[in-house]
Amino acid sequence: MVLTTTPFSPSDKTAADGGASIEPFITEEELQSRVGELAYEIAQDYRNLGVTPERPLHLLGVLKGVVPFISDLMRAIPTDLPVSVDFLAITPYGPDTRRTGGVRVIKDLDEPITGRHVLLVEDIVDTGLTLGYIMKLLRSRQPASLRVCTLLDRASVRLLDVRLAYIGFEIPDQFVVGYGLDYGELYRNLPYIGVMRNA
Ligand code: IMP
Ligand code: MG
Repeated sequence: MVLTTTPFSPSDKTAADGGASIEPFITEEELQSRVGELAYEIAQDYRNLGVTPERPLHLLGVLKGVVPFISDLMRAIPTDLPVSVDFLAITPYGPDTRRTGGVRVIKDLDEPITGRHVLLVEDIVDTGLTLGYIMKLLRSRQPASLRVCTLLDRASVRLLDVRLAYIGFEIPDQFVVGYGLDYGELYRNLPYIGVMRNA
C-alpha cells in the first residue's frame, strides 16, 4: 500500500496555536535514514557488550515525546540482537515545556534494571537537566551499563554536562515540533520535524 502525507505548508496557520506556523526542518526521509544508521551502530556496539536473550538490550523511553522515535528505532535494530523495552514518564512542565525546571516521575518503569544493559532513549536533550535527573535515578538502580541515545541534541544551551553516546541530529536553538515533539500537546503526529515560528 502506498501512503502519501501532506505536510503543512510553511504558511499554514491554525486557530489552536494562535496563528503560529511550522517550517519543515528535518524531512521524514532524513529522519528514517538517520534512525536506520543509529540502529545499525547501536546493534554493532551491543553485540560486543554480550547482549543475550537472557540479558537483552533494554531500551528505556521517556514518554511521551519519544514514542515515534523509539518505535522506529527498535524496528530498525537487526532482529538478531535481543531487545526489550520499557517506559517512564516525567511531569510536563507547562505549555511550552522548556527550561522551567522541576522534574517528577509520574510513571516509573515496570521492571527492575539492575544488572541490565540499559539504553535510555530521548527525543531531545536541551539543557540536560531532565536527563541529568533521570540518569541519577537509573544509576542508583545499578544497571550493567547505561548509555543515552537522543534523536535531537541542542548542545548550545546545555547547562548540565551529560554524555550522549548516540545522537541523531544536532540542532540550533529554535523550538521544534513533530515526530513526537509537542507544543501544548499538539503536533506530535507530524511525520517530520518542523521549526515553530511566531509561537
Ligand atoms: P531539558 O531538561 O532542558 O534538556 O529539556 C528536555 C525536555 O524539554 C524535552 O524532553 C522536551 O520535552 C522539552 N523540549 C525541549 N526543547 C524542545 C523543543 O524544541 N520542542 C519541544 N519540546 C522541547
Ligand atoms: Mg522528553
